[in-house]
Amino acid sequence: MSKKFSEDFLWGVAHASHQVEGNSKGNDWWDWEQQGKTSEPSNWACDSWNRYLIDNKLAQNLGCDAFRLSFEWFRIEPKKRKFSQVGIEHYRKLLQDLKKRGIKRVVTLWHWTSPMWFVKDGGWHGENAVEHFSSYCKKVMEELGAEIDMFVTINEPRLPLNRGYLTGDFPPGKRNPLAFLRARKNMIVAHRECYDICKKIQKNIPVGVTQFCNIFEYANPKSPLWTVTKKVEDNYNWYFQDHIKDKQDFIGVNYYFGMKISLLPPFVKMKNIDKELTEMGWGVYPNGLFKLLMSAWKRFKKPVYIFENGIADKKDTRRAKYIKIHTEAVLDAINQGADVKGYFYWSLLDNFEWLLGYSKKFGLCEVDDKTMERVPRKSFFEYQKLIARYKGELEVQTDNIKK
Ligand code: BGC
Repeated sequence: MSKKFSEDFLWGVAHASHQVEGNSKGNDWWDWEQQGKTSEPSNWACDSWNRYLIDNKLAQNLGCDAFRLSFEWFRIEPKKRKFSQVGIEHYRKLLQDLKKRGIKRVVTLWHWTSPMWFVKDGGWHGENAVEHFSSYCKKVMEELGAEIDMFVTINEPRLPLNRGYLTGDFPPGKRNPLAFLRARKNMIVAHRECYDICKKIQKNIPVGVTQFCNIFEYANPKSPLWTVTKKVEDNYNWYFQDHIKDKQDFIGVNYYFGMKISLLPPFVKMKNIDKELTEMGWGVYPNGLFKLLMSAWKRFKKPVYIFENGIADKKDTRRAKYIKIHTEAVLDAINQGADVKGYFYWSLLDNFEWLLGYSKKFGLCEVDDKTMERVPRKSFFEYQKLIARYKGELEVQTDNIKK
């Protein structure tokens, strides 16, 4: 008989400060946008800095157990070692409001954006990176640690490292393998130090990272190339977590699509269960999530959380099904023994999709770019029902979600 999601399984949504808060003058992505490196600037984003109560209420209405959000470093530390009480109190209020609503707070310390002072002092590849990041972490833990239920130090370290230091399309825009290696080492050391800092200040807080993961498909598993493929996959998915093995309480994964590799192109194929790719050009492949969860569980034997999974779907015709089939894959993994403890849909709102600006719509809610009104899509209500069904609740709460 098929197992159910455990009672403490976290159903949630996720977003990140720079993508929703708006007016992020003071960080490197804002600067990058002003240099014309993105299709459009983030400007006011979703104005969540001012409208976070509405966002929190939406998450509550959805039936979420948890909300994953991130802190914007420059708002907490606008100048080196000069912390802003305004920034700290803002996040305190936000977190306390979530608690009042019965929603657990999963906080990411760094979701790709750094203060300009940090960048000017060398950024992630600079010699002071670890010291700066650890000091930021210590302040956050001291001030806000009691309001945080789970702590993710770094979001998807591989992406900003590859794209900031190898392909150069993310800040700091370098194509420099040596700087890449220095930055990667600094991120690993910074996480390890932050883990100890967190445990000293809030000893029970679960701490980890979350990584962008893919599953590589190879058409002929008997080929010797398959061994190579598996090595590529392991390195791609787990390099960072392998290096912080003893300093993480859970394994965070972000999963969006299955990946085709081109070792021997005619024999490589991506299994895509939909006829079309998504608006990001990604393949829909829930079995990849199943395989990923099994791989994470077998490798680390620690609780696994899917901190992001989502689809860009402007017309909202595919989102509800996407969520359904991916959560079924999660249940399959649980049935096969994996200790999976949470699923967070990316994202609650349409938001600023980095280089691609506002063109990609991942939101359960549409955001009117003039009035900033949040308008729940049909899939919002489908996800709401799905959560209620998985929890075995008979009735779905339906009070006025716009207020
Ligand atoms: C990132 C998000 C991003 C999402 C969709 C993830 O890699 O963490 O910030 O919006 O993918 O591209």
